[in-house]
Amino acid sequence: RARVAVLISGRGSNMAALLYASRAADAAYDVVLVGSNNPDAEGLKLAAAEGVAVWAHDHRGMSRSAFDDLITNALLEANADYVALAGYMRLLSTEFVNRWAGRLLNIHPSLLPKYKGLDTHARAIDAGDSHGGCSVHIVTPELDDGPVLASIPVAIQQDDTPQTLAARVIHAEHQLYPRALSDYVSRPYNPEWLLEKVRTLALALPQTE
Ligand code: GAR
Repeated sequence: RARVAVLISGRGSNMAALLYASRAADAAYDVVLVGSNNPDAEGLKLAAAEGVAVWAHDHRGMSRSAFDDLITNALLEANADYVALAGYMRLLSTEFVNRWAGRLLNIHPSLLPKYKGLDTHARAIDAGDSHGGCSVHIVTPELDDGPVLASIPVAIQQDDTPQTLAARVIHAEHQLYPRALSDYVSRPYNPEWLLEKVRTLALALPQTE
């Protein structure tokens, strides 16, 4: 089984979904570490209660790269093969992203490439979109920009607020992330596959003059 570390900043419900999915007999990965930049993150308690190693360090007062080096040390100590960002609300340094290139995934609450960044549900509602949703993607140095592995659309209802939409999208997230992560860590070794993903994404982007 692949060894996965999960990084969180808060509630950690996606981390819980990843963890419980990993407890199924036929799971493709184990969660070997839950790490956080926020020692008060709610999800850390759940992880500790479930017997998972936890690591937390307050990022304040440190440079981004110094903090990311601390995370890398914790990941190496845990022998992590992959890192799954799950509501990790801090930008990562380019050095960190490159260090874990191809082994770093994220879940984002929109149908990427739409609505990178924050306030995704409000932006989808304001735009009059028929659907919001969530996406799992490979992390590259640009925010929320890497190749999309899988996504689930969620219908926007007439009276939706960002909160009511988020409350439904989170159910989709909990279905999507364990499956996308399992598929990713189980894929046959194929460097061409990753290149193809990058090409496909480039072709899907709107063309500029
Ligand atoms: C999730 O909706 C996740 O997609 C989002 O934060 C929430 C975390 O919830 N992530 C981002 O916005 C990343 N930019 P959780 O802590 O309960 O998993």
